[in-house]
Amino acid sequence: MAVDEQESNERDEEGAPPLVVITDTAVDPHIVMHHEPRSLQAEQYRAFRTNLLAMGRNKGSRSVVLTSGIKGDGKSISAVNIAICLAEAPGTRVCLIDADFRSPRVAELLGIGGGKGLSELLLDEATLADVLLETRVQNLFVIRSGRPPRNPSELLASERVKNLLDTLKQQFTHILCDTPPVNPFTDAAVLGARTDGVVLVVRMNSTGREQAERARHVLERAGAHVIGAFLTDTASQDPDAAAEYEEDADE
Ligand SMILES: Nc1ncnc2c1ncn2[C@@H]1O[C@H](COP(=O)(O)OP(=O)(O)O)[C@@H](O)[C@H]1O
Ligand SMILES: [Mg+2]
Repeated sequence: MAVDEQESNERDEEGAPPLVVITDTAVDPHIVMHHEPRSLQAEQYRAFRTNLLAMGRNKGSRSVVLTSGIKGDGKSISAVNIAICLAEAPGTRVCLIDADFRSPRVAELLGIGGGKGLSELLLDEATLADVLLETRVQNLFVIRSGRPPRNPSELLASERVKNLLDTLKQQFTHILCDTPPVNPFTDAAVLGARTDGVVLVVRMNSTGREQAERARHVLERAGAHVIGAFLTDTASQDPDAAAEYEEDADE
């Protein structure tokens, strides 16, 4: 479940190089599922995917929000990598929604340009067909954030969001939503309460864990179901701390 960037790079240098490296400068280098599919980090995303798939077994389509305590925890990078990873599993069809109107990054990370997206869809200025984009990854579709709306959390609280998730559930096995951080904004809690679960991205540095605990309480109070944690930057921590957090999150 943990992503240990520094350590995995070191181990990659020592071990065998990735068998396939697709050099595509348009896709951000942090998208290891694209650039280094044989790396240890990519394996860690696959391990996380296994957990997500096991949770959803026999439950039909799943909608999941990815969020964290504060900005910079690695939400967007994790969301894109997890989405690619899920789309590569047999029998899945994945829709990744950039629901972070405040700092949208999904389109940039995937190397696709800006344009109409979720905000236009929810404001009835575009149709689903207009904003649902096919990506170069088979079975992965993306809805960009669109132009920043004046009232992001109100827009995410609208009935249209519920209708959109219901519609997407008929077309996709997994709907993943990248969102703003929980502690400064209510957006992720609002959206999280409408989805099947929330994955909390936890940056394992000195403040990350504390912020994550706060975020978990806020999410649970809002009625969101926190289904797991995805750990980033574990190299900055005592390795035992990551294992300990995973145990706590499982409780
Ligand atoms: N798995 C990771 N481990 C360490 N650092 C990371 C990881 N993922 C992202 N980062 C760093 O954190 C920065 C912010 O990532 P991003 O996904 O945009 O965060 P957020 O969406 O939570 O604001 C990135 O530019 C990158 O340098
Ligand atoms: Mg982000």
